[in-house]
Amino acid sequence: MGEPLDICALADLADGAAKGFEIPGGLYDGFVVRRGTAVHAYLNTCPHSGARLDWKPDAFLTRSRELIMCSVHGAIFEVENGLCVGGPCVGRSLRPLAAEVRDGRILITSDLT
Ligand code: FES
Repeated sequence: MGEPLDICALADLADGAAKGFEIPGGLYDGFVVRRGTAVHAYLNTCPHSGARLDWKPDAFLTRSRELIMCSVHGAIFEVENGLCVGGPCVGRSLRPLAAEVRDGRILITSDLT
């Protein structure tokens, strides 16, 4: 397994906010959502058509920030597990990445190679 991918300091991502990141050499980019001291990360690809979820950098959430939203056809997903709970792909899920906070940094620990 390769080195974890260092995204940013936890303190640099506001509680409730999302941040996109590039996966070097990867087919897809990823994004992370902060909930207090927890982080949830997924590949940036919608299970409906495979499109990117964001329409501008870091725009991954509904206005209330309670759910992840795909900008293409409006599918909505739970932050904690990536399950689609509304829109054209209900019951399907985002592809999760293992993420953790270590020494104040957000790290992606999934094997990305
Ligand atoms: S591509 Fe995401 S809802 Fe259609």
